[in-house]
Amino acid sequence: MHIHCTLLLTSVFLLFSRADAYFGYGLIRCLFTSKDDVVYLAQIYFNKVLMGQYNSTLGKYVGYTEKLKEVADELNKNERFLEQEKKNEQKCRTNIPLVFNVLSRPVEPTVKLRLVESPDSEHPGMLMCSAYNFYPKHIKLTWLRDGKEVTTDVTSTEELPNGNWLYQIHSHLEIIPKPGENISCMVEHASLMEPKFYDWDPTSEAQKNKIAIGVAGLLLGLVFVLSGAVFYKRNTTSRILVPTS
Ligand SMILES: *[C@@H]1O[C@H](CO)[C@@H](O)[C@H](O)[C@H]1NC(C)=O
Ligand SMILES: *[C@@H]1O[C@H](CO)[C@@H](O)[C@H](O)[C@H]1NC(C)=O
Repeated sequence: MHIHCTLLLTSVFLLFSRADAYFGYGLIRCLFTSKDDVVYLAQIYFNKVLMGQYNSTLGKYVGYTEKLKEVADELNKNERFLEQEKKNEQKCRTNIPLVFNVLSRPVEPTVKLRLVESPDSEHPGMLMCSAYNFYPKHIKLTWLRDGKEVTTDVTSTEELPNGNWLYQIHSHLEIIPKPGENISCMVEHASLMEPKFYDWDPTSEAQKNKIAIGVAGLLLGLVFVLSGAVFYKRNTTSRILVPTS
């Protein structure tokens, strides 16, 4: 899944209305660059040409013409203007949840539980619980052994951004699960009404091997059958040949 979307909320705004005659017209933009970030722009256009703007990343006004450079310098000295722009930026920011709640609901993670063999003999193996492609960022993974929380020998990554507004996280539990032990990874996330449990199934790994052996056996069997058939055919032909010679 790859969401690539830059939302541009544009509105002709009142901020520059008092200076309208001077500035032409102003546009206020909330540029939602990610689900966590916004760039607030107050732009001054004249005849559709951008003459200058306040950019919240820079935190100041920038002029692109001689005249507007002077104006920008003046505005940058004016605390009240700068404060107002900070407030406007904050308004953009408070709109992020609104914008994105409309656009997208929380995204439920895909969870994988697997055994990671380690070449390190001191830590011969660990279980890894990975949650992929979730939103929002906040998530909680908890390891449970027979229903009780395990806190020792647990290491976890941070929520890692995928670069597409979705996140992933990986939690490791150093353990070699014993047969009959119930190890599970509990996932708590905004997308889930209640915690979701992912049970470690030791047979799943063994089953995978069994299937592999089964397939190999089947192939081997097929080879035997085929070579047997060829052998039988050769035999029959030679048998046919034998009595005639
Ligand atoms: C705002 O400023 C930042 C930092 O200089 C820059 O990367 C970004 O392109 C600017 N945005 C616009 C729309 O000019
Ligand atoms: C294993 O533990 C989880 C979490 O406590 C539980 O949901 C699940 O039913 C248990 N499974 C077995 C086979 O006991």
